[in-house]
Amino acid sequence: MKVDDIEKIAVMGAGDMGHGIAEVALLAGYKVAMRDVEQRFVDKGLARIKESLEKLVEKQKISEDNKKAMVSNIETFVDIGKAVKDADFVIEAVPEIMNIKKEVFKELDKHAPKHAILASNTSNMSITEIASATNRPEKVVGMHFFNPAVLMRLVEIIKGDKTSEETMKLAYDVALRMNKVPVRVEKDSIGFIYNRVNAPNSILLGVILERGLATPEQIDARMKKVGMPMGPYELMDYVGLDVAYHGALYFAERLSSDYKPPKWLKEKVDSGNLGKKTGKGIFDWSQGRPAIDLDKAKEDFDPTDLIAIQVNEATKLLEEGVVKNPDDIDKAMVNGGGSAFGPFQLAKGIGFDKLAKRCEELAKQFGVKAFEPTETLKKGRI
Ligand code: CAA
Repeated sequence: MKVDDIEKIAVMGAGDMGHGIAEVALLAGYKVAMRDVEQRFVDKGLARIKESLEKLVEKQKISEDNKKAMVSNIETFVDIGKAVKDADFVIEAVPEIMNIKKEVFKELDKHAPKHAILASNTSNMSITEIASATNRPEKVVGMHFFNPAVLMRLVEIIKGDKTSEETMKLAYDVALRMNKVPVRVEKDSIGFIYNRVNAPNSILLGVILERGLATPEQIDARMKKVGMPMGPYELMDYVGLDVAYHGALYFAERLSSDYKPPKWLKEKVDSGNLGKKTGKGIFDWSQGRPAIDLDKAKEDFDPTDLIAIQVNEATKLLEEGVVKNPDDIDKAMVNGGGSAFGPFQLAKGIGFDKLAKRCEELAKQFGVKAFEPTETLKKGRI
């Protein structure tokens, strides 16, 4: 199959990511089938797509006629078999729980046409393991979008152990057609690029709250003052505390116990306060985005701490052969979120020696092995 042969994309899940990916597929001119487990979830996802398309009309990015054509190009389903029966390409965006993913892929394999590619939007999880639930692992690939999918440009294209080169190329070309910036991840490795590089930040942010060293508003105000469009705690709420929690559990199980979710995060998730999607998380979202008071910034919190542990983690990806070219890491980090510069671009300005020293201090101060500087960081050569 070639990219031009793909006419219909089925998206599994109509939540934050599912509805966003379905919208991106519509904008690229595909016919779309969007499926979720209950009618009310599909209805909500469709309403969000219409709202977002309306915003694009208001900004004159698309015409009213374009919008109408896109709305008529999407069908919604609860029945998985009906949703995928004539799809050429399927993208799964269901909760980040391995057993659920595997169940879905088993069903996709059973009902989707033999030629269909099955892609997973997992943020962290093994593509090889997900593919093992199917009889077509060569056609299973990771295709990781970022939230909000309609605005964030990165799509990580992840190769599972059995993914064929043809499948990798198709997923890459579909992402290009969606006007995204695809970056290939050659080795199926936890968190891929973007989430792996950011993972140690979540340890530090977790410890800061656990030990009462600062409030979320103080840190977010500080980070917004240095140019971040969203502070890191607001971003956690925006993406969903359930996503952060399941991600942390997966990292703790597979990479290091340093990633064990902090108690406060578990409590938020257990009490159903998941952030933006439930109206309350770390912040109150009932009136829209939290209003962060920049005067509350904790001036003695050094944003370089977050950069130091990010750069360090990025060097691990090079050491482990997950990415060959450091520029790909910078490209991924710039296009996946709201940063103007990638970690290595920043490191060159700050100095690798300074960052290595800070990583050593942070590792000691918090007793976190994941912060210890790598040989690459200490040598300062990438
Ligand atoms: N559809 C269409 N337009 C949208 C939109 C949507 N879903 N969401 C926001 N916009 C538009 C807004 O209407 C607004 O338009 P105008 O400028 O014309 O008013 C514009 O985008 C900017 O939005 P806001 O003014 O509300 O706020 P902002 O300037 O802070 O931008 C943001 C919002 C683009 C989300 C920005 O805050 C940002 O880049 N945040 C960081 C996001 C990020 O890091 N995402 C990655 C998360 S990690 C992840 O996803 C990985 C994972 O695996 C979990």
